[in-house]
Amino acid sequence: MAQDTLHLYSTTEAEFLFQELYGHVGRATALPSERDQNFRLVVEGGGAFVLKLYAPETDRVWLEAQDALLQELAQRDADLPLPRAVPNKKNMITDEVVDPQGKSRPIRLLSWMEGDVWSKVAQKQDLDYSQIGRLMGRMDKALKSFSHEGAKRTFLWDIAQATTHRAFLHLIEDEKIRSIVMAIVDRFEQKNAWALNKLPSQVIHNDANDYNILVDSQGQISGLIDFGDFIESYRVCDLAVACAYAMLGQRDPVGRACEVVAGYHATNPLTAAEIALVYDLAQVRLAESTCMAAQQYAANPENDYLLISQKDVRELLLRMEKINRDVVHYRFRDVCGLEACPGSRKLVQWLSANADRIGPICDPVLSADNVLVLDLSTLSVDEEGITLDAEAATSLIFSIMDDAGAEVGIGNYLEDRNVYKGDFFETVDPEERRTVHLGIDLFLPAYAPLYAPLDGKVRVHNDNTRDYDYGPVLILEHEMDEGQVFYTKYGHLSRTSLALWEDGKAFKKGELIGYVGPYPENGNWAPHVHFQLLLDLMGMENDVCGVAARSERNVWASVCPSPNLILGMQIKCEGTTVRSAKDIRSERARHLGPNLSLSYSAPLKIVRGEAQYLYSESGDSYLDMVNNVCHVGHCHPRVVKAATEQLPVLNTNTRYLHDNIVNYARELLSTFPEPLEVCFFVNSGSEANDLALRLAQNYTGCREMLVVDHAYHGNLTSLIDLSPYKFNRKGGRGRPEHVRVCPMPDGYRGPVKADDPACGSKYADLAIQELRALEQAGGKPCAFIAESLLGCGGQIVLPQGYLPKVYDAVRASGGLCIADEVQVGFGRIGEHMWGFEQQGVVPDIVTLGKPIANGHPMGAVVTTRAVADAFMTGMEYFNTFGGNPVSCAIGLEVLQVVRDERLQNNARLVGARMMQGLKSMVADHPLIGEVRGMGLFIGVELVRDHATLEPATPEAGKVVNLMKERGILLSTDGPLDNVVKIKPPICFSAEDAERFLREFDDCLALVEQEEIK
Ligand SMILES: Cc1ncc(COP(=O)(O)O)c(C=O)c1O
Repeated sequence: MAQDTLHLYSTTEAEFLFQELYGHVGRATALPSERDQNFRLVVEGGGAFVLKLYAPETDRVWLEAQDALLQELAQRDADLPLPRAVPNKKNMITDEVVDPQGKSRPIRLLSWMEGDVWSKVAQKQDLDYSQIGRLMGRMDKALKSFSHEGAKRTFLWDIAQATTHRAFLHLIEDEKIRSIVMAIVDRFEQKNAWALNKLPSQVIHNDANDYNILVDSQGQISGLIDFGDFIESYRVCDLAVACAYAMLGQRDPVGRACEVVAGYHATNPLTAAEIALVYDLAQVRLAESTCMAAQQYAANPENDYLLISQKDVRELLLRMEKINRDVVHYRFRDVCGLEACPGSRKLVQWLSANADRIGPICDPVLSADNVLVLDLSTLSVDEEGITLDAEAATSLIFSIMDDAGAEVGIGNYLEDRNVYKGDFFETVDPEERRTVHLGIDLFLPAYAPLYAPLDGKVRVHNDNTRDYDYGPVLILEHEMDEGQVFYTKYGHLSRTSLALWEDGKAFKKGELIGYVGPYPENGNWAPHVHFQLLLDLMGMENDVCGVAARSERNVWASVCPSPNLILGMQIKCEGTTVRSAKDIRSERARHLGPNLSLSYSAPLKIVRGEAQYLYSESGDSYLDMVNNVCHVGHCHPRVVKAATEQLPVLNTNTRYLHDNIVNYARELLSTFPEPLEVCFFVNSGSEANDLALRLAQNYTGCREMLVVDHAYHGNLTSLIDLSPYKFNRKGGRGRPEHVRVCPMPDGYRGPVKADDPACGSKYADLAIQELRALEQAGGKPCAFIAESLLGCGGQIVLPQGYLPKVYDAVRASGGLCIADEVQVGFGRIGEHMWGFEQQGVVPDIVTLGKPIANGHPMGAVVTTRAVADAFMTGMEYFNTFGGNPVSCAIGLEVLQVVRDERLQNNARLVGARMMQGLKSMVADHPLIGEVRGMGLFIGVELVRDHATLEPATPEAGKVVNLMKERGILLSTDGPLDNVVKIKPPICFSAEDAERFLREFDDCLALVEQEEIK
């Protein structure tokens, strides 16, 4: 038996070297490796390492380069999850040992990376592949200016060396695969290599395959290992390698590659030229892999493993044959935020600006008066075939048109239809068919004549004779002023049209170009012309898609702008495509500001709401205990009616006289005590607080403010300044000079406890201390602003006597008192309409928002005549939307629904039952620290220890996620994020309360017993 010259070391010897060279005692286990000997060493008491003993012939310069590369990465981006080289006792990263055969071998120690191999986890879990792109993007960015002699080498796994693989092509046994690989190498040589030459090059990792990536228990990347393949090459090759492996074995390979590309671009922006090459280069990597395997198999024919490991590569290469590379290129552009099809915006602009130069394509001239838009999304396929065969469809569609007195029936652009059948509409993804209609259908009698809308020439003419295809189809080529080309397509025409067409034939605008076809010659459809606008035929010519897969919708909408740009019908003729939750997430990432958050570890796609319930896309119902905005219940019919009755009549601003604003003002003010008698209407809680601030500043002539710790008052610049919840937390800039923070009157966690009879008064004293400090520093207070019950502070009910004492002191010093009722107003607390009433005070200014219009964006400020008058400085107060007739109609209806449905009383009764039920749980649940609240504004603070009050923050998160799985939505808040927040729509019923109490009891018990991991 040949001696294994590579694997000479035993685990005992590895342990010995570990101690000798690195000074640690540990247990070794051997790790698999092709060339070197690797051991995992676990140190007693913690810590794990990889001890690497390289083959004697290992290139020392290459090793040096690897050391330098890891150091560079650690310096440039210390948070990258990569192994770190550990120096030995001599402070050397790489040292040499003499092996039992007397040969010198390099030895090195690396930190051990925790996690499971990506490829294994991906079989069980739907992982987010954009992480791979983000990781590679960050790495490439960190290595941008790194260079080393050892990285400049010729290496068969370098994509840029693809042509070297020609030497192995003949070794590929499978003929089909051989020809595919050959074509890839040819294309590389003829096209890609030239383009690649102009792209940025640098040192790259070059092996982001799914065996080198590690994942933690949350499915997040925890490590990238194996830096053996690094090389100086083109940076786009690093991404192409990652894409090639990400696509292997996938149902939707291009979708996966899109995730990787989007992730890469987000961290290390790609150029358009790089994006254009990614897919081709990923194919090159797969081709190289095939060649290398063929070469190894030829040298070692009994190694069947090679053939098995190549199975996924072969399958992917075969599937890629069926994928249009231009579509993939455009999808990559789209996920990188570029215009999917270059020139699309320009075409839309040109057609919009030159509408008068476009002629009609049929008789009659289409107008809103003579067309009928048909909903073809509801047509479906059943086992028998298409429900509506051509004859049945014809009589149905034309009779609907007759009944409506319409001359032309319209089938919508971008309509998602279930009508397309046959393998013609299949995609490479077995779970996806082509369903999204890219043209506009014009249902006209068979043989109706059609005309060229613009000058053009024949680009494609054919009779597509397959069933459900186009039958006779014509594509005309047109030019914009600057010579850019675009196309119009006419499908399902008559065979008599064929005689009119020949290659390149020119048609003038208005000239006859064909006739609507009868079935079956038109592909066997009801007579209509499929009219489509295109910017690019993408090599598909007469087969260019008229219907696309949902996953390609963005691309095709860009390639095929709305045909109504040409038809000019002044009607809506565009359908909608339902997006998957995953698609929505990636669209959000692409097009929305990145600091929007999502609730729950698995975010919900909610599509409908009714009363206290929300419904997901899949029809699951959720009891909404979070939403204090849809106060009287989601989509309350009376509120919806108020809006939809006013919307079609008038919506203007306050510069015209209108009943709604005064009716609403009267009704709203009637709920407030004197002397609160004036209101201003705005569009949000933030705007209300900002206006309150201006009012107070005008009245007092001062700027200095007193706020309560952990408060949140809104998202405007002026209010971030007043919100310790923001300015003292992540991303905040700390307390501004003009703001003083009063301690939160928290009778559970704060310095004075709730059972102290003077609790309220003592916390008021602490606030007054801040007031005095302000005065001692030479300031005068503008206002004290506080929520009437503290929301972000953790659902805290102010202790009795707190506000009266603070208000008295602030007023005595010349300041005003502002009550922020944005969270708690409108009867939520049950006993009172407004939260401040619970303290027996009357503020100078009250701000309203969230529940005021049941989800319609609105806010209000209520104040005294004196404060309002002081605002009369000569400067007009104008708010474009505030107080408009629609908002006021809605606001009024909300007030009346609260009254008519006795919802304040409901909040009091159901809230009392909730408080009693929750309090009765305290004895059984050590996690519950305190239950507090009023009406339907309740908080349950969870702690790990009743003496130290150690917050049970992760447990609170677990309870909330468990409750979600049981169909009940809650959230957490408070300075320590350990308070379960309860603030449902106030139509929340007694039955809902019982259900909640049961489930909450159960979930708490589960978390307490640690039955869930
Ligand atoms: C107490 C309080 N005030 C003001 C605001 C700001 O309201 P909006 O988000 O409508 O601007 C909020 C929002 O959460 C709030 O909780």
